[in-house]
Amino acid sequence: MALSRRRSYSSSPAALVVAVLIVFLAAAAALVGADDPYRYFTWTVTYGPISPLGTTQQGILINGQFPGPRIDCVTNDNLIVNVINNLDEPFLITWNGIKQRKNSWQDGVAGTNCPIPPGGNYTYKFQSKDQIGTFTYFPSLAMHRAAGGFGAFNVYQRPAIPVPYPLPAGDFTLLVGDWYKAGHKQLRQTLDAGGALPLPDGLLINGMQSATFVGDLGKTYLFRVSNVGLKTSINVGIQNHTLKLAEVEGTHPVQNAYDALDVHAGQSVAFLVVLDQPPHDYAVVVSTRFSPAANLTTTATLHYTGATSRAPGPLPAGPPAGSDWSMNQARSFRWNLTASAARPNPQGSFHYGAINTSRTLVLASSSPVIAGRRRCAVNGVSFVTPDTPLKLADNFNIANVIAWDSVPVRPDGGGAARAGTPVVRLNLHEFVEIVFQNTENELQSWHLDGYDFWPVGYGNGQWTESQRQTYNLVDAQSRHTVQVYPNGWSAILVSLDNQGMWNLRSAIWDRQYLGQQLYLRVWTAQQSFSNEYSIPTNAILCGRAVGLPH
Ligand SMILES: *[C@@H]1O[C@H](CO)[C@@H](O)[C@H](O)[C@H]1NC(C)=O
Ligand SMILES: *[C@@H]1O[C@H](CO)[C@@H](O)[C@H](O)[C@H]1NC(C)=O
Ligand SMILES: *[C@@H]1O[C@H](CO)[C@@H](O)[C@H](O)[C@H]1NC(C)=O
Ligand SMILES: *[C@@H]1O[C@H](CO)[C@@H](O)[C@H](O)[C@H]1NC(C)=O
Ligand SMILES: *[C@@H]1O[C@H](CO)[C@@H](O)[C@H](O)[C@H]1NC(C)=O
Repeated sequence: MALSRRRSYSSSPAALVVAVLIVFLAAAAALVGADDPYRYFTWTVTYGPISPLGTTQQGILINGQFPGPRIDCVTNDNLIVNVINNLDEPFLITWNGIKQRKNSWQDGVAGTNCPIPPGGNYTYKFQSKDQIGTFTYFPSLAMHRAAGGFGAFNVYQRPAIPVPYPLPAGDFTLLVGDWYKAGHKQLRQTLDAGGALPLPDGLLINGMQSATFVGDLGKTYLFRVSNVGLKTSINVGIQNHTLKLAEVEGTHPVQNAYDALDVHAGQSVAFLVVLDQPPHDYAVVVSTRFSPAANLTTTATLHYTGATSRAPGPLPAGPPAGSDWSMNQARSFRWNLTASAARPNPQGSFHYGAINTSRTLVLASSSPVIAGRRRCAVNGVSFVTPDTPLKLADNFNIANVIAWDSVPVRPDGGGAARAGTPVVRLNLHEFVEIVFQNTENELQSWHLDGYDFWPVGYGNGQWTESQRQTYNLVDAQSRHTVQVYPNGWSAILVSLDNQGMWNLRSAIWDRQYLGQQLYLRVWTAQQSFSNEYSIPTNAILCGRAVGLPH
């Protein structure tokens, strides 16, 4: 598929047409990854009764399941997912951490896709291109995620490309999250009225409070843990067992051993556990973190085959409260530079620390009152979803939807907060520093679609340029979602190699819903299918794009 882009600039018009056609066909072939296998899914989304905390409430089910079906696939598989929306509200699914290379058309957020109307359907078509690891999907609109509709998305390596650890005897997927007895409509009403989310009523593991994972003495298992909750950070540990970090959001870290790991909203980690203890049932302990008003714990069971009793002794005490322990752990996550990625090149072959940044965005989050209601904002601008998705407005040149570059790229420290629809314009192949400044006493979590990035620094207080001297410019652990400690900052470096319209958002879901998000348009004037695919023929058109030719 390595057609030279220059061919589309041949001088003769006939050659140009032929070349454009060839490039188009090549792009189409690339899109469906001719050599790579296909996996087809038909997902019907409905309401249905669930009782994760013992009382029945209305859940959002996919094919009758809560959580939704797990996707297990192999790097570069083509995924064709027909989502049929049988809810009474518009619906979209986003693929958390799946990079959608050249293809923000399939990202499934309000800025890229028209919602699937009640009774309608949309077929997502994308490739899990050059990624291996533990990901998730979830509904991106209208607080639906509070009712379910999320699931696990595991991408396995191709046989030809070894992972940097012996293959485990099995793997376990744990979707962990805070849970609320109130339904998504009720939570939405509370937020719309300017109120705050209530405290969570419980913590769930795979939609339950009683999951069991079974393994054999002496064998090693991979635990994949994702925080699919609305907002609460969690800590996970296993009684009398060591967790050896094996994968973080699609890249391989140095395999440090931990007693317990913090996982913040929207994040995933995978760790290896050797069943090297006397055969018993051991507690897998999950507890809330950074949630001073609600200290919840739930336990699952690691059952040794044949065991008949619980392990003696107390459950592990969680780590100390406050940021220090967690921040030190975050800094201890290191990229294994010699491990191979999804393609057979070392992860560290791209020396990110040696590249000059082209610009710096300093994004301060806040929760101002706008028009009498509490909202959340980035540098004073609270995102409001436009009637026409930004990606469509850009594609069709529809005026007055996008407010280009209308968010300050430094906190302006004063002006009244306002609502807006900002898109920051950036050039393809820029290398950018983004600093997330937390001005509140609540942990933040930030996610960027379309990318992973290097979190090079975490700190307390106000970020200043002198903090750059503390950055890890050698082996920061690449990931797609980064926490920002209360009244602290986190800095990331990101290589903008994926053209498209990408959501940069709070992974704390009430904050995202209330406007703590914006979009980055990564673009180049040289339009080419080798940089970005064109609008899918089945794209739903809504708002001011209704009736326009695809
Ligand atoms: C809806 O589903 C049908 C098959 O049931 C499919 O042919 C059609 O393309 C889907 N619509 C969209 C917009 O993907
Ligand atoms: C890093 O990856 C290499 C290559 O797969 C592996 O041999 C090594 O054990 C890993 N190092 C650490 C510290 O995890
Ligand atoms: C929860 O834990 C934190 C830190 O350990 C503590 O400060 C707080 O008082 C606890 N809250 C409740 C309601 O127990
Ligand atoms: C298991 O862990 C508990 C604390 O979590 C500890 O008290 C006990 O000594 C440990 N048992 C063994 C056999 O290591
Ligand atoms: C980075 O910037 C410095 C100073 O502006 C310059 O000397 C250096 O050549 C640049 N490095 C690269 C790789 O462009």
